[in-house]
Amino acid sequence: MKPKNHPLPRATEMAHRFVLERIRPGDRAIDATSGNGHDTLFLAKSVGPEGKVYAFDIQEQAIDATAAKTSGLPQVELFCLGHEEMDKVVSERVKTIMFNLGYLPKGDKTVITQTDTTLRALEAGIRLLDEGGLLSITLYEGHEGGQEEAEAVLTWAEGLDQADFYVARYQFLNLRNSPPSLLVIEKRH
Ligand SMILES: C[S@@+](CC[C@H](N)C(=O)[O-])C[C@H]1O[C@@H](n2cnc3c(N)ncnc32)[C@H](O)[C@@H]1O
Repeated sequence: MKPKNHPLPRATEMAHRFVLERIRPGDRAIDATSGNGHDTLFLAKSVGPEGKVYAFDIQEQAIDATAAKTSGLPQVELFCLGHEEMDKVVSERVKTIMFNLGYLPKGDKTVITQTDTTLRALEAGIRLLDEGGLLSITLYEGHEGGQEEAEAVLTWAEGLDQADFYVARYQFLNLRNSPPSLLVIEKRH
């Protein structure tokens, strides 16, 4: 019998797997790029009604889509606000933060995350992370500006002190269409 083909998980799926290992009902989480709301819904289900998910996006369309996907879930709070401002509205430590960079799928492909604000948001994010908390970043290099942003994020992440953080990357090495890769950062203490 022909063996069944089990493709390796995509970066976005690996992000969920890493987060699932960490997060518990009642935890706090941030979705830094809510987009169509898939990750916000995933986080909301993972933390449950006793937990809390703060979700950010700069586009009304994305916030509306996320609101529709998570309607009736009291643990979700949405902000039509740049993620670089997250520490102005989140005043407690969180167990996990998810970034999914680039543009809104099926939306305006010219509205993309920008290197400068992404780096500021990441700095704010690692300050808000709890001890043992996890920050995931899905990185896209296929669109204009994506490679520059990905390189800047990788340089920033490589510079994090190993006394304070573990940083790892998951990436396909032989696919032609620039699939996204995943960075995960664990705050040690
Ligand atoms: C790849 S999409 C996110 C997909 C989303 N996680 C999902 O599950 O559908 C990237 C999103 O980042 C948003 N974005 C761009 N710049 C932003 C910023 N400074 N702060 C927050 N969101 C931003 C875009 O509007 C877009 O919706």
